[in-house]
Amino acid sequence: MIVTGNTILITGGTSGIGLAFAEEFIKEGNRVIITGRREDRLEAIKNKLPEIITRVSDVSDAAQRAGLAEWVFQNYPETNMLINNAGIQLVTDLKSPVDLERVRTETETNFIAPVHLASLFTPHFAEKENAAIINITSGLAFAPLAFMPVYCATKAAMHSLTLSLRHQLKQTGIKVFEIAPPAVDTELGHDRREDKSQSHGGIPVQEFIAGAMKAIKNDELEAAIGQAAGLRSKREALFEQMNSW
Ligand SMILES: NC(=O)c1ccc[n+]([C@@H]2O[C@H](COP(=O)([O-])OP(=O)(O)OC[C@H]3O[C@@H](n4cnc5c(N)ncnc54)[C@H](OP(=O)(O)O)[C@@H]3O)[C@@H](O)[C@H]2O)c1
Repeated sequence: MIVTGNTILITGGTSGIGLAFAEEFIKEGNRVIITGRREDRLEAIKNKLPEIITRVSDVSDAAQRAGLAEWVFQNYPETNMLINNAGIQLVTDLKSPVDLERVRTETETNFIAPVHLASLFTPHFAEKENAAIINITSGLAFAPLAFMPVYCATKAAMHSLTLSLRHQLKQTGIKVFEIAPPAVDTELGHDRREDKSQSHGGIPVQEFIAGAMKAIKNDELEAAIGQAAGLRSKREALFEQMNSW
């Protein structure tokens, strides 16, 4: 991919990987639009990075997804890249009846939203040069951590979706990437940490971004970064080792 001169919509840019991608793409000479539910965060980011474009939008709401796409087409019709990044990670105990609303929200955010957004943007992108859809999955798409079964299943579904989307779009110029991060030190899962200052663990976000940018520049359409590469190549063979608790 040519990683300069694009207009890029990144869902979930208020922290972590989405924000770090936004900063990096701006540095590389792109126009970047970020979304998120937290308006105060978006405002603070805009104060620090005045060139960034922000939009309050909840990807778990179908009407807001359609509204986001319409707003982008009207205001930034040159948009040629979508990064499906927004995600939540919940612990789910399957030994007692689950809270279906929670399961639905996690699935809607991590899986249904990217399906819907990809379908809204493909007709628009088909007319563009250097167009791409980049799905952020996870090493856990290939070997799950059993205490967050729904999260891992949404990421496995995203892996499968990316293969099919790439196949469906092969006659167009739209490139479809899957970037699978390893554990990256972000706010992901902070709601389950009693001490909110406690780290998620994993590699620094800048290290992840360096690997992801290299993959995007080199057209490595399915890129598992760092330890995610091991999970991808060994898949379920690592399951017992990962879940020895
Ligand atoms: N960190 C890791 O170890 C790791 C590993 C593998 C994959 N990933 C994936 O990387 C992606 C980014 O996660 P992260 O690690 O950067 O976590 P993060 O720091 O918690 O960031 C998550 C982002 O998603 C946004 N988001 C969540 N729900 C949303 C919703 N309903 N509507 C709009 N935005 C929403 C959040 O914004 P608001 O809260 O403001 O809405 C935030 O900007 C996720 O898809 C995650 O699954 C992360």
